[in-house]
Order: sequence, then C-alpha cells, then structure tokens
Amino acid sequence: MKLIIAMIQPHKLHDVKKALFEADVYKMTVTNALGCGQQKGYTETYRGVIHDVNLLKKVRLEIAVNEDFVQPTIDAIIRGARTGTIGDGKIFAIDIPDCIRIRTGERGNEAIG
Ligand SMILES: Nc1ncnc2c1ncn2[C@@H]1O[C@H](COP(=O)(O)OP(=O)(O)OP(=O)(O)O)[C@@H](O)[C@H]1O
Ligand SMILES: [Mg+2]
Repeated sequence: MKLIIAMIQPHKLHDVKKALFEADVYKMTVTNALGCGQQKGYTETYRGVIHDVNLLKKVRLEIAVNEDFVQPTIDAIIRGARTGTIGDGKIFAIDIPDCIRIRTGERGNEAIG
C-alpha cells in the first residue's frame, strides 16, 4: 500500500480529478496548501533580490492505493497536471504499513479499496 501525495497547481485540480476518475481512482483527500519548489516560489519574471522564499498557493492531494493502482494513479496525476512549465508540481509516493476502515474494522488492502 502506498500513500501518494501530489502537490499541484490549483487550476489543474479539475483536470487531475477527471484523469483520476478515468483511471478508476475515486478516493482522495484534497487540501489547500502553500509551498515552493526549486524556484523558491519566485518566477522568472521576478526582478528583485531573493532573500527568502515566496509561498505560492498549491493544492495537495492525498490518495492511498493498493500496489496495482500506484502507477495508474501517478500516471493520471501527471496527465491532468502537466503543462511542461515550472511549478507543475511534484508527486511523493510513501509506503504505508496499514489502513483501517473505522466503521467495519477492515484493515489493509480491503480497507483501502
Ligand atoms: N522537496 C520538496 N519537499 C516538499 N515539498 C516540495 C518539494 N518540492 C516541491 N514541493 C512542493 O511541490 C510544489 C510544486 O513544486 P514545483 O513543481 O515547483 O517543483 P520544482 O522542483 O520546483 O520543479 P519545477 O522546476 O518544475 O518547478 C511546491 O510548491 C511545494 O509545495
Ligand atoms: Mg518549481
């Protein structure tokens, strides 16, 4: 089981959701976030001296999936989020040892799926 965390541009959320739906991935958590990557949050149009980081609005997606769905989920996020320009986002895939559905007590693969 993996937890896929994706930081994407907010305006790509619709496209990413559509791509995930087409890949049969429906369960997700979506949060508004602030962040910056290797440009320190400043774009190439910034003319000043950079003393610190500039936090930009991002959307954070969290999706826990069974192994079969790891690559399809990653592919769908890329399909929906990619423009080919800086700031398109980043995906982190983390191994998770367990998942528990509170209502039924199911664990692991059954609880995720
Ligand atoms: N190493 C990191 N650790 C934690 N969060 C990160 C990391 N890299 C990127 N992020 C998050 O992902 C968001 C999008 O990153 P971004 O796409 O700008 O990555 P990048 O490495 O700068 O690539 P690019 O050069 O394509 O812009 C950031 O705003 C930040 O929230
Ligand atoms: Mg960047």
